[in-house]
Amino acid sequence: MSKPRKPIVAANWKMFKTPSETADFFRTFLPVLGTLDGVDVVIAPPFPCLPAASEHAGKSIVRIAAQNMHPEASGAFTGEVSAIMLRELYVTYVIIGHSERRTLFGESDAFINRKVLTAHASNLRPILCIGETLEERDAGHIHDVLRRQLTAGLAGINAEQAIETVLAYEPVWAIGTGRTATAAQAQEAHAFIRSVLESLYDAATARRIRIQYGGSVKPNNAAELSAQADVDGFLVGGASLESGSFYEIIRATVHSSLEG
Ligand code: 13P
Repeated sequence: MSKPRKPIVAANWKMFKTPSETADFFRTFLPVLGTLDGVDVVIAPPFPCLPAASEHAGKSIVRIAAQNMHPEASGAFTGEVSAIMLRELYVTYVIIGHSERRTLFGESDAFINRKVLTAHASNLRPILCIGETLEERDAGHIHDVLRRQLTAGLAGINAEQAIETVLAYEPVWAIGTGRTATAAQAQEAHAFIRSVLESLYDAATARRIRIQYGGSVKPNNAAELSAQADVDGFLVGGASLESGSFYEIIRATVHSSLEG
């Protein structure tokens, strides 16, 4: 039995790659990717690389994401970028509330929620990131943290919009550390997230919302993680910077989703 949701694998390039390196990536990646079916593929390059990424993605199956945005449409917010600016560059998704934004740039749940609301109002699909730190996990607070981030992040979002929202469970202790959550840990957290979605909306809505896993995803662990019942693809950092390893993760996701 395959899952009732199409998997979505997204590359979060963080602050890596210039516009010309972005173009080089697409030139090697697209011919390898071909017209792979049964998966949504998304790439989130740094802001200055968005025009090159959109131009190269063209009519391919790849959709482009931004890594962040400001909730206001315009204004005196030096250094910020708005949803309408992104829309003009053919951006489809936007990563919101990544743990690096939360911890390094002090983003609160309330500010993150404003971005989620703006994204939907602007026809951008948010990829809302949530996840606990190691201290929170060790203290037994994982469920409280996930429930708080979800409830606050999705405040004011109706069921229809929730279905168009992608969630990314990224345990902070697994990001860039080489320490992946085990398949069982990921499944437990994803099932809990889906139960919270069920209480916020209803069972039918919760069943349709895609929940990605993120944190040291590599070609050699993607298949096992992706075979879990509530894992609907990945948000990939380091391993998405090289077209070969990113493609291997996508391929493993498609295969295990078909078999799962
Ligand atoms: P890594 O895959 O490098 O651990 O990064 C995960 C991540 O933060 C994706 O958003």
